[in-house]
Amino acid sequence: MNIRKCVAAIGLSLLPWMAWASGAGVHLESANIDVGNVQSLQRGAQLFNNYCLSCHSAQYMRYSRMAEDLKLPVDLVTENLMFAGEKIGETMTVAMPAKEAAAWFGKAPPDLTLTARQRGADWVYTYLKSFYLDPGKPTGVNNLVFKDVGMPHVLWELQGWQRLKSADGHEGDAGSHATSHEGAADSPFEQVTEGALTPEEYDRAVRDLVAYMSYVAEPVQLKRAGVGIWVLLFLAVFGVLAYLLKKDYWKDVH
Ligand code: HEC
Repeated sequence: MNIRKCVAAIGLSLLPWMAWASGAGVHLESANIDVGNVQSLQRGAQLFNNYCLSCHSAQYMRYSRMAEDLKLPVDLVTENLMFAGEKIGETMTVAMPAKEAAAWFGKAPPDLTLTARQRGADWVYTYLKSFYLDPGKPTGVNNLVFKDVGMPHVLWELQGWQRLKSADGHEGDAGSHATSHEGAADSPFEQVTEGALTPEEYDRAVRDLVAYMSYVAEPVQLKRAGVGIWVLLFLAVFGVLAYLLKKDYWKDVH
């Protein structure tokens, strides 16, 4: 009996590892974001508010705080980045009722305020690059890091469509003009139709988007970096003073 319990306990303790292992099969690309780059965050905000807020909320983020942190004039934000008739001091809610969304997509689109921290920037970056054509799915797409995802490929106009390379490593028909981009020899995808952006431009757009999501997940990180610089400056100045003082105190001691 005891042994059984023991085995059950070991089995249970291994469960989280098994869950982790099942998701770890896909190689995540490095997002390489720079949250200190305000222009990147501004571009990310534009993409996020245009392409994501229609389904997802970011309900812990206020438009006014974003405007301030990203150095965007309030009227520019109200005119170009707010679509649901909110006011500048309000949080980023979503007009679509969760219940209906769940009926349409099988799953309600989750709030994205904290996603970049929960999933990690690399995961979100890879996710947004990993939608591929799958005629068996209601949305026509599947995702390599999120199997059977309910979300459509909302950035298709920018990225174009891609499909999985066939399992034997054969890159499509000889006659097709399927292209691969830089560093893509080991990419699991091949491009089927081109989007408005080149693959490099799309990578940059997704990087901006993920940088913005990472900022939204922890807005104070911008301030933290700013404070850090002052702390280092203070330490440098204080270090010089302390050294001069020490020299002065010790000049008569031999
Ligand atoms: C048409 C509606 C729609 C739009 C627009 C949309 N999504 Fe989604 N998204 C969904 C749905 C539905 C899910 C839930 C999928 C599931 O659980 O199967 C989802 C899930 C996600 C997830 C996974 C969250 C998690 O941790 O499970 C991320 C990340 C995400 N979306 C990011 C984005 C980003 C970034 C954009 C804008 C570029 C965006 N979405 C635009 C519908 C949408």
